[in-house]
Amino acid sequence: MKLFYESNSKIFKNENALSLEYLPPEMPEREGQLKELASLLNPISKNRRARNILITGSTGTGKTSCTKYILNQLMDFTQIGIPIYINCWQFSTSHAVLSEIAERLSLPLPRRGISFDEIFNRVKEYLIKNNKILVVVLDEVDRLIANSSTEILYYLSRGDELMNGRSSVIVISNDNDLASKLDDRIRSSLLEYRMKFEKYTAFQLKRILNERAKLAFFTSAIGEEAIALCAANASKQNGDARVAISLLYQTGLNAERDNSSRLMIKHVKMAIEEVKKETDIISRHFDSLSDIEKRIINILLNGPVTSGELYSRLSDTKLSDRMFQFYINKLEESQLISSEEVKVRPKGRTKLLSLKK
Ligand SMILES: Nc1ncnc2c1ncn2[C@@H]1O[C@H](COP(=O)(O)OP(=O)(O)OP(=O)(O)O)[C@@H](O)[C@H]1O
Ligand SMILES: [Mg+2]
Repeated sequence: MKLFYESNSKIFKNENALSLEYLPPEMPEREGQLKELASLLNPISKNRRARNILITGSTGTGKTSCTKYILNQLMDFTQIGIPIYINCWQFSTSHAVLSEIAERLSLPLPRRGISFDEIFNRVKEYLIKNNKILVVVLDEVDRLIANSSTEILYYLSRGDELMNGRSSVIVISNDNDLASKLDDRIRSSLLEYRMKFEKYTAFQLKRILNERAKLAFFTSAIGEEAIALCAANASKQNGDARVAISLLYQTGLNAERDNSSRLMIKHVKMAIEEVKKETDIISRHFDSLSDIEKRIINILLNGPVTSGELYSRLSDTKLSDRMFQFYINKLEESQLISSEEVKVRPKGRTKLLSLKK
């Protein structure tokens, strides 16, 4: 049985360059932000902590990839910094985040439960003893806030006082109002520096796609109009580079399926509907939701409903009013749903809930 084949694609030179996890060798249109991040993190190479950074911006604006990009360069440049990237959908409580940090530092923790303070002290001792500076990235931090589990933000952001100058934190969120949701004692220490990533314009997306296309496709397969249409479409869908790249990928697959040797407009048109479903924030996080959260999302997929209506549709779950509110707040804070006050006759008001666009 022959299991390995030479790829005979007329389209893809390197299909992997279009996967969403792929970190490109350059980040077009984010050169300024990368330079800014590099100069902010530079003190680490001189054995000083960097300022804490809050990065906000809507989905697909390059927050995660720019941060990973700069951490890779930091590691190549200095041995003093220890960058640890954490996605808060995966580690969604302060204790889980801190345990993961200890694990990545290879610090042995006893199997019996160990308190937050105890783990924190071990991490701190390790950093002091080994003369290292920790740079923790807390990506999609909204999920920690939704779980009301934010002590870790307090501890890590007080790098000077609580960590002997041995830690800095980079917090990433797609909620541009995040700062107003933090309590005062966290806000003051966390917000040493703020960056906002703006949505990409069609022109910027075209440049990003052109660079990516050179890595992924044979030169003869690249169709300029097709790329421009991918960029224009993604720019209408919120200036999201994830949508743009997924569209380009799906366009390539369609061209291949069509036995074409070049990307064409018709391949993009076929790709548009397919991609919309895969790239939105809900699809990406659906598996990590609890059963009740999944039920709520499934109901809202059919359109907005009032909170009263939603509550009655969940009556079989016997949720208390308080727990119902808890789940609604949690989904709102996780940036998956939004609510709006609406008037109901005769004089009342209610909340209309819908999926976040
Ligand atoms: N300037 C860029 N150059 C090249 N690729 C980019 C650029 N910006 C974003 N991308 C690509 O777009 C995709 C989405 O980017 P990224 O994950 O960094 O967005 P994000 O801002 O973190 O979004 P979210 O808020 O949804 O997590 C990734 O595959 C990334 O490689
Ligand atoms: Mg991200």
